[in-house]
Amino acid sequence: MTRVEGKVALVTGGASGIGLSSARLLAREGAKVVIGDYNLDGAKEAAKEIEKSGGTASAIFLDASIEESIKEAIEYTVKMYGKIDVLFNNVGLTNLQKDLDVVNIDLDEWDRLIDVNAKSVLLGSRYAIPYMKEAGGGSIINTTSMAGFASDAIRTAYGASKAAVVSLTSYIATQYGKDGIRCNAVAPGLILTPAAKNNLPKEVQEIFLKFNALPYNGEPDDIGYTVLFLASDESKYITGQTIKVEGGHYIANPSIEDFNEFMKKA
Ligand SMILES: NC(=O)c1ccc[n+]([C@@H]2O[C@H](COP(=O)([O-])OP(=O)(O)OC[C@H]3O[C@@H](n4cnc5c(N)ncnc54)[C@H](O)[C@@H]3O)[C@@H](O)[C@H]2O)c1
Repeated sequence: MTRVEGKVALVTGGASGIGLSSARLLAREGAKVVIGDYNLDGAKEAAKEIEKSGGTASAIFLDASIEESIKEAIEYTVKMYGKIDVLFNNVGLTNLQKDLDVVNIDLDEWDRLIDVNAKSVLLGSRYAIPYMKEAGGGSIINTTSMAGFASDAIRTAYGASKAAVVSLTSYIATQYGKDGIRCNAVAPGLILTPAAKNNLPKEVQEIFLKFNALPYNGEPDDIGYTVLFLASDESKYITGQTIKVEGGHYIANPSIEDFNEFMKKA
Protein backbone atom coordinates (compact mmCIF):
# COMPACT_ATOMS: atom_id res chain seq x y z
CA MET A 1 0.00 0.00 0.00
CA THR A 2 2.88 2.37 -0.60
CA ARG A 3 3.19 2.78 -4.34
CA VAL A 4 2.89 6.57 -4.12
CA GLU A 5 3.80 7.02 -0.45
CA GLY A 6 4.63 10.61 0.44
CA LYS A 7 3.43 12.06 -2.87
CA VAL A 8 0.88 14.87 -3.13
CA ALA A 9 -1.68 14.69 -5.93
CA LEU A 10 -4.36 16.99 -7.30
CA VAL A 11 -7.13 15.17 -9.16
CA THR A 12 -9.45 17.37 -11.22
CA GLY A 13 -12.98 16.08 -11.75
CA GLY A 14 -12.36 13.81 -8.78
CA ALA A 15 -15.89 13.73 -7.41
CA SER A 16 -17.07 11.04 -9.81
CA GLY A 17 -16.13 8.25 -12.21
CA ILE A 18 -12.52 8.01 -13.39
CA GLY A 19 -11.29 10.86 -11.18
CA LEU A 20 -12.91 9.38 -8.08
CA SER A 21 -11.43 5.94 -8.72
CA SER A 22 -7.99 7.48 -9.23
CA ALA A 23 -8.25 9.62 -6.09
CA ARG A 24 -9.23 6.59 -4.01
CA LEU A 25 -6.42 4.42 -5.39
CA LEU A 26 -3.79 7.16 -5.04
CA ALA A 27 -4.84 7.70 -1.41
CA ARG A 28 -4.91 3.97 -0.71
CA GLU A 29 -1.32 3.76 -1.95
CA GLY A 30 -0.09 6.53 0.33
CA ALA A 31 -0.61 9.82 -1.54
CA LYS A 32 -2.15 12.89 -0.01
CA VAL A 33 -4.93 13.79 -2.43
CA VAL A 34 -6.74 17.02 -3.24
CA ILE A 35 -10.01 16.51 -5.09
CA GLY A 36 -10.90 19.48 -7.29
CA ASP A 37 -14.36 19.55 -8.81
CA TYR A 38 -17.13 22.01 -9.56
CA ASN A 39 -19.38 19.60 -7.70
CA LEU A 40 -17.96 20.69 -4.35
CA ASP A 41 -20.38 18.57 -2.32
CA GLY A 42 -19.31 15.50 -4.30
CA ALA A 43 -15.63 16.37 -3.83
CA LYS A 44 -16.14 16.82 -0.07
CA GLU A 45 -18.01 13.53 0.12
CA ALA A 46 -15.17 11.74 -1.72
CA ALA A 47 -12.52 13.29 0.55
CA LYS A 48 -14.52 12.32 3.64
CA GLU A 49 -14.81 8.73 2.44
CA ILE A 50 -11.05 8.54 1.78
CA GLU A 51 -10.25 9.94 5.23
CA LYS A 52 -12.66 7.44 6.82
CA SER A 53 -10.74 4.57 5.28
CA GLY A 54 -7.45 5.88 6.64
CA GLY A 55 -6.24 8.02 3.71
CA THR A 56 -5.47 11.73 3.53
CA ALA A 57 -7.65 13.89 1.29
CA SER A 58 -9.28 17.27 1.03
CA ALA A 59 -11.64 18.97 -1.41
CA ILE A 60 -11.62 22.26 -3.26
CA PHE A 61 -14.01 23.90 -5.70
CA LEU A 62 -12.42 23.89 -9.16
CA ASP A 63 -14.03 25.04 -12.39
CA ALA A 64 -11.85 23.80 -15.24
CA SER A 65 -13.22 26.49 -17.57
CA ILE A 66 -11.80 29.29 -15.39
CA GLU A 67 -8.06 29.97 -15.32
CA GLU A 68 -8.10 31.59 -11.87
CA SER A 69 -9.94 28.61 -10.40
CA ILE A 70 -7.35 26.15 -11.74
CA LYS A 71 -4.52 28.31 -10.39
CA GLU A 72 -6.21 28.47 -6.99
CA ALA A 73 -6.56 24.68 -6.82
CA ILE A 74 -2.84 24.21 -7.53
CA GLU A 75 -1.93 26.83 -4.93
CA TYR A 76 -4.32 25.27 -2.41
CA THR A 77 -2.66 21.88 -2.93
CA VAL A 78 0.82 23.29 -2.29
CA LYS A 79 -0.37 25.28 0.72
CA MET A 80 -2.22 22.32 2.19
CA TYR A 81 0.44 19.63 1.77
CA GLY A 82 3.66 21.53 0.97
CA LYS A 83 4.11 20.49 -2.69
CA ILE A 84 2.50 18.98 -5.77
CA ASP A 85 4.05 15.79 -7.17
CA VAL A 86 1.17 14.59 -9.29
CA LEU A 87 -1.34 16.56 -11.33
CA PHE A 88 -4.16 14.53 -12.85
CA ASN A 89 -5.86 16.78 -15.43
CA ASN A 90 -8.98 14.70 -15.77
CA VAL A 91 -11.95 17.03 -16.35
CA GLY A 92 -13.60 16.58 -19.71
CA LEU A 93 -17.07 16.59 -21.21
CA THR A 94 -19.12 16.72 -24.35
CA ASN A 95 -22.65 17.80 -25.26
CA LEU A 96 -24.62 15.48 -27.50
CA GLN A 97 -27.16 18.20 -28.34
CA LYS A 98 -24.66 20.85 -29.50
CA ASP A 99 -21.36 19.09 -30.26
CA LEU A 100 -22.51 17.89 -33.67
CA ASP A 101 -20.95 17.34 -37.10
CA VAL A 102 -18.77 20.02 -38.75
CA VAL A 103 -21.64 21.73 -40.59
CA ASN A 104 -24.04 21.81 -37.65
CA ILE A 105 -21.88 22.16 -34.56
CA ASP A 106 -22.70 25.10 -32.29
CA LEU A 107 -19.58 27.27 -32.48
CA ASP A 108 -19.90 28.60 -28.93
CA GLU A 109 -19.99 25.01 -27.76
CA TRP A 110 -16.86 24.28 -29.83
CA ASP A 111 -15.05 27.08 -27.95
CA ARG A 112 -16.35 25.91 -24.57
CA LEU A 113 -15.34 22.28 -25.09
CA ILE A 114 -11.88 23.17 -26.40
CA ASP A 115 -11.46 25.33 -23.27
CA VAL A 116 -12.72 22.80 -20.73
CA ASN A 117 -11.14 19.72 -22.31
CA ALA A 118 -7.83 21.02 -23.71
CA LYS A 119 -7.01 24.49 -22.41
CA SER A 120 -7.58 23.30 -18.83
CA VAL A 121 -4.75 20.79 -19.36
CA LEU A 122 -2.47 23.58 -20.54
CA LEU A 123 -3.46 25.78 -17.59
CA GLY A 124 -3.18 23.12 -14.90
CA SER A 125 0.26 22.22 -16.20
CA ARG A 126 1.28 25.86 -16.54
CA TYR A 127 0.61 26.52 -12.85
CA ALA A 128 1.91 23.18 -11.49
CA ILE A 129 5.18 23.05 -13.45
CA PRO A 130 7.02 25.83 -11.54
CA TYR A 131 6.35 24.02 -8.23
CA MET A 132 7.38 20.68 -9.73
CA LYS A 133 10.54 22.21 -11.18
CA GLU A 134 11.47 23.64 -7.81
CA ALA A 135 10.96 20.24 -6.19
CA GLY A 136 13.06 18.45 -8.84
CA GLY A 137 10.24 16.75 -10.73
CA GLY A 138 6.69 15.51 -10.90
CA SER A 139 4.18 13.54 -12.93
CA ILE A 140 1.43 15.14 -14.99
CA ILE A 141 -1.27 12.79 -16.22
CA ASN A 142 -3.99 13.85 -18.64
CA THR A 143 -7.26 12.16 -19.55
CA THR A 144 -7.75 12.09 -23.28
CA SER A 145 -10.13 9.66 -25.03
CA MET A 146 -10.19 7.13 -27.85
CA ALA A 147 -12.35 9.81 -29.52
CA GLY A 148 -9.06 11.66 -30.04
CA PHE A 149 -7.96 8.82 -32.35
CA ALA A 150 -11.12 7.38 -33.89
CA SER A 151 -13.67 9.75 -35.33
CA ASP A 152 -17.40 9.82 -34.85
CA ALA A 153 -20.48 11.10 -36.72
CA ILE A 154 -20.90 13.83 -34.08
CA ARG A 155 -18.81 15.04 -31.06
CA THR A 156 -16.44 16.94 -33.37
CA ALA A 157 -15.22 19.32 -30.65
CA TYR A 158 -14.83 16.51 -28.13
CA GLY A 159 -12.64 14.53 -30.56
CA ALA A 160 -10.55 17.52 -31.60
CA SER A 161 -10.06 18.64 -28.00
CA LYS A 162 -8.99 15.17 -26.92
CA ALA A 163 -6.55 14.92 -29.87
CA ALA A 164 -5.13 18.24 -28.65
CA VAL A 165 -4.61 16.65 -25.23
CA VAL A 166 -2.58 13.83 -26.82
CA SER A 167 -0.39 16.42 -28.51
CA LEU A 168 -0.07 18.63 -25.42
CA THR A 169 1.02 15.57 -23.47
CA SER A 170 4.06 15.04 -25.66
CA TYR A 171 4.82 18.79 -25.83
CA ILE A 172 4.85 19.06 -22.03
CA ALA A 173 7.00 15.92 -21.78
CA THR A 174 9.45 17.37 -24.30
CA GLN A 175 9.66 20.82 -22.77
CA TYR A 176 10.05 19.84 -19.09
CA GLY A 177 11.62 16.36 -19.18
CA LYS A 178 15.03 17.73 -18.22
CA ASP A 179 13.40 19.17 -15.09
CA GLY A 180 12.40 15.66 -14.06
CA ILE A 181 8.77 16.28 -15.01
CA ARG A 182 7.05 13.44 -16.80
CA CYS A 183 3.80 13.88 -18.69
CA ASN A 184 1.62 11.04 -19.92
CA ALA A 185 -2.00 10.54 -20.87
CA VAL A 186 -4.56 7.82 -20.56
CA ALA A 187 -7.05 7.30 -23.39
CA PRO A 188 -10.16 5.47 -22.17
CA GLY A 189 -12.54 3.65 -24.43
CA LEU A 190 -16.04 3.20 -22.99
CA ILE A 191 -15.78 3.16 -19.20
CA LEU A 192 -18.90 2.32 -17.24
CA THR A 193 -18.85 5.23 -14.83
CA PRO A 194 -22.13 5.85 -12.99
CA ALA A 195 -22.91 8.59 -15.55
CA ALA A 196 -22.18 6.32 -18.52
CA LYS A 197 -24.26 3.53 -16.95
CA ASN A 198 -27.20 5.89 -16.44
CA ASN A 199 -26.99 7.69 -19.78
CA LEU A 200 -26.08 4.91 -22.21
CA PRO A 201 -28.90 2.58 -23.16
CA LYS A 202 -28.13 -1.12 -22.63
CA GLU A 203 -28.11 -1.57 -26.44
CA VAL A 204 -25.25 0.90 -26.83
CA GLN A 205 -23.26 -0.79 -24.06
CA GLU A 206 -23.81 -4.08 -25.90
CA ILE A 207 -22.53 -2.62 -29.19
CA PHE A 208 -19.32 -1.64 -27.40
CA LEU A 209 -19.06 -5.08 -25.89
CA LYS A 210 -19.51 -6.75 -29.28
CA PHE A 211 -16.52 -4.92 -30.75
CA ASN A 212 -14.21 -5.23 -27.72
CA ALA A 213 -11.46 -7.83 -28.00
CA LEU A 214 -12.14 -8.62 -24.33
CA PRO A 215 -15.49 -9.99 -23.17
CA TYR A 216 -16.36 -7.08 -20.88
CA ASN A 217 -16.64 -3.28 -20.80
CA GLY A 218 -14.30 -1.04 -18.80
CA GLU A 219 -14.76 0.08 -15.20
CA PRO A 220 -13.39 3.26 -13.57
CA ASP A 221 -10.67 1.28 -11.75
CA ASP A 222 -9.26 0.14 -15.12
CA ILE A 223 -8.27 3.78 -15.63
CA GLY A 224 -7.56 4.40 -11.94
CA TYR A 225 -4.87 1.70 -11.84
CA THR A 226 -3.26 3.11 -14.99
CA VAL A 227 -3.19 6.57 -13.40
CA LEU A 228 -1.71 5.09 -10.22
CA PHE A 229 1.06 3.47 -12.27
CA LEU A 230 1.79 6.72 -14.14
CA ALA A 231 1.81 8.66 -10.85
CA SER A 232 4.23 6.23 -9.20
CA ASP A 233 7.97 5.92 -9.73
CA GLU A 234 7.29 2.50 -11.29
CA SER A 235 6.78 4.44 -14.54
CA LYS A 236 9.84 6.68 -14.10
CA TYR A 237 11.17 6.02 -17.63
CA ILE A 238 7.83 6.62 -19.35
CA THR A 239 7.03 10.09 -20.64
CA GLY A 240 5.16 11.68 -23.53
CA GLN A 241 3.03 8.57 -23.98
CA THR A 242 -0.69 8.02 -24.27
CA ILE A 243 -1.78 4.67 -22.90
CA LYS A 244 -4.94 3.36 -24.55
CA VAL A 245 -7.16 1.54 -22.06
CA GLU A 246 -10.02 0.35 -24.24
CA GLY A 247 -10.45 -3.42 -24.04
CA GLY A 248 -8.95 -3.89 -27.49
CA HIS A 249 -12.00 -2.21 -29.01
CA TYR A 250 -9.98 -0.37 -31.66
CA ILE A 251 -7.18 -2.85 -32.40
CA ALA A 252 -8.63 -5.01 -35.17
CA ASN A 253 -8.98 -4.16 -38.82
CA PRO A 254 -12.61 -2.90 -39.03
CA SER A 255 -13.22 -5.01 -42.13
CA ILE A 256 -12.22 -8.28 -40.39
CA GLU A 257 -15.76 -9.73 -40.35
CA ASP A 258 -16.20 -9.19 -44.09
CA PHE A 259 -12.79 -10.78 -44.71
CA ASN A 260 -13.75 -13.77 -42.57
CA GLU A 261 -16.92 -14.19 -44.65
CA PHE A 262 -14.84 -13.94 -47.84
CA MET A 263 -12.34 -16.53 -46.58
CA LYS A 264 -15.17 -18.94 -45.73
CA LYS A 265 -16.43 -18.71 -49.31
CA ALA A 266 -12.95 -18.84 -50.92
N1 LIG B 1 -16.46 7.34 -19.15
C1 LIG B 1 -16.01 7.15 -20.37
O1 LIG B 1 -16.47 6.25 -21.08
C2 LIG B 1 -14.89 8.02 -20.91
C3 LIG B 1 -14.32 7.65 -22.13
C4 LIG B 1 -13.29 8.42 -22.65
C5 LIG B 1 -12.84 9.53 -21.96
N2 LIG B 1 -13.42 9.86 -20.77
C6 LIG B 1 -12.90 11.05 -20.10
O2 LIG B 1 -12.67 10.76 -18.75
C7 LIG B 1 -12.76 11.96 -17.98
C8 LIG B 1 -13.63 11.73 -16.78
O3 LIG B 1 -14.91 11.35 -17.21
P1 LIG B 1 -15.88 10.40 -16.37
O4 LIG B 1 -16.42 9.42 -17.32
O5 LIG B 1 -15.22 9.92 -15.14
O6 LIG B 1 -17.04 11.45 -16.06
P2 LIG B 1 -17.90 11.76 -14.78
O7 LIG B 1 -19.05 12.56 -15.26
O8 LIG B 1 -18.18 10.51 -13.99
O9 LIG B 1 -16.93 12.68 -13.91
C9 LIG B 1 -16.52 13.93 -14.36
C10 LIG B 1 -16.28 14.82 -13.15
O10 LIG B 1 -15.80 16.08 -13.62
C11 LIG B 1 -16.53 17.12 -13.01
N3 LIG B 1 -16.54 18.26 -13.93
C12 LIG B 1 -17.15 18.37 -15.13
N4 LIG B 1 -16.91 19.58 -15.67
C13 LIG B 1 -16.13 20.24 -14.79
C14 LIG B 1 -15.53 21.52 -14.78
N5 LIG B 1 -15.72 22.40 -15.79
N6 LIG B 1 -14.76 21.86 -13.74
C15 LIG B 1 -14.58 21.01 -12.70
N7 LIG B 1 -15.14 19.79 -12.63
C16 LIG B 1 -15.89 19.40 -13.68
C17 LIG B 1 -17.91 16.55 -12.72
O11 LIG B 1 -18.55 17.24 -11.66
C18 LIG B 1 -17.56 15.10 -12.36
O12 LIG B 1 -17.31 14.96 -10.97
C19 LIG B 1 -13.25 13.04 -18.94
O13 LIG B 1 -12.14 13.79 -19.39
C20 LIG B 1 -13.84 12.24 -20.08
O14 LIG B 1 -13.81 12.96 -21.30
C21 LIG B 1 -14.44 9.14 -20.24
